Amino acid sequence: MEVTNKYIVIKNHIEDAPKESHFEVKTEPFALSLDPGSDDVIVKNLYISIDPYLINRMKIYSASHKAISFATPLTSGEAIDAIVIGKVVTSGNAKFEKDDLVLGVFTWAEYSVVKEQSIIKKLETSQFPLTYHLGVLGFSGLSAYAGFFEICKPQKGEKVFVSAASGSVGNIVGQYAKLMGCYVVGCAGSQKKVALLKEKLGFDDAFNYKEETDLNSTLKRYFPDGIDIYFDNVGGKMLEAAVANMKAFGRVSVCGVISEYTDVGKRASPDMMDVVYKRITIRGFLAADFLNVFAEFSAKTLDYLRNGQLEVIEDKSFGVESIPSAFVGLFNGDNVGKKVVVLAEE
Ligand SMILES: NC(=O)c1ccc[n+]([C@@H]2O[C@H](COP(=O)([O-])OP(=O)(O)OC[C@H]3O[C@@H](n4cnc5c(N)ncnc54)[C@H](OP(=O)(O)O)[C@@H]3O)[C@@H](O)[C@H]2O)c1
Repeated sequence: MEVTNKYIVIKNHIEDAPKESHFEVKTEPFALSLDPGSDDVIVKNLYISIDPYLINRMKIYSASHKAISFATPLTSGEAIDAIVIGKVVTSGNAKFEKDDLVLGVFTWAEYSVVKEQSIIKKLETSQFPLTYHLGVLGFSGLSAYAGFFEICKPQKGEKVFVSAASGSVGNIVGQYAKLMGCYVVGCAGSQKKVALLKEKLGFDDAFNYKEETDLNSTLKRYFPDGIDIYFDNVGGKMLEAAVANMKAFGRVSVCGVISEYTDVGKRASPDMMDVVYKRITIRGFLAADFLNVFAEFSAKTLDYLRNGQLEVIEDKSFGVESIPSAFVGLFNGDNVGKKVVVLAEE
């Protein structure tokens, strides 16, 4: 049987802020059967994870390209690979059967042909929606868990600052920090997001960074005695201001620097005298470095979910055509929580 498959490509490399016009929806005939002897798997994609790091793969050059297989450069005109949850339509591989739910590195497309090594795991249906495996139970959750617990080694009562705090990773970091007994302040780009952090997610305080003219004094206002832990999702001026406000032996976990992804002229230059004399640790990380704690992260996070101790914030768009606007929206602050594009509901 043959269907028509829609997929998304970039027309050219993208060096600054992405626009919908940088993308194109392509259509091609797609066979739902495999050649005899093929060990490929054909997957109907259900839920597509929309993640900021892909912008770095869309550039001609990025420090990310050689870091990890997830981050290799994308080629214009070719389907874009990303984390996706799908359902097996046809399998030439004995490990997978028709109707299996699978999570892996597939494509921004309605259907993908997948090699075994691209499938990360089979998913069982559970009491929680499948989309949680893209966010709170997936790489966003692992990033939050590893970046906060493994890198920052938090202690009860410590003062924690989180940027992009209403985003997919940030909202989970803030909630973990509250569960740990820390004092937590988040920043986000609108009053609505600030209200969400304080009223629904239990942050002790929050502010809209877009309304602040002097981030250094803003952070002094929220942390008069200094910051113990800064979980950085944005880099740039916020990282500089956070370092200026860190306490002695403060820890900065650099998860991402989204404010720098779309502006080659913008690079944080924190005061290194502060780093030396306050003995601050600044450490970047990739979630994939912490697969060794995945089982622990997953067990603890499932417990929190079952006990109703963790709010899950998802932001959904529908249909393959909505992928470019969903992606562009990450850089404009359109999303609240984990951004997912739903192609078909399970
Ligand atoms: N190290 C890893 O393994 C790993 C894994 C996952 C994610 N990350 C990184 O972690 C960060 C957060 O990722 P996410 O998946 O949770 O995305 P996200 O926060 O759900 O979405 C991006 C958010 O970033 C904020 N933002 C966009 N442009 C900004 C700018 N110029 N300045 C300040 N804030 C800006 C926006 O919120 P506002 O409305 O608040 O501006 C937007 O909603 C990103 O830097 C990402 O690359 C790293």
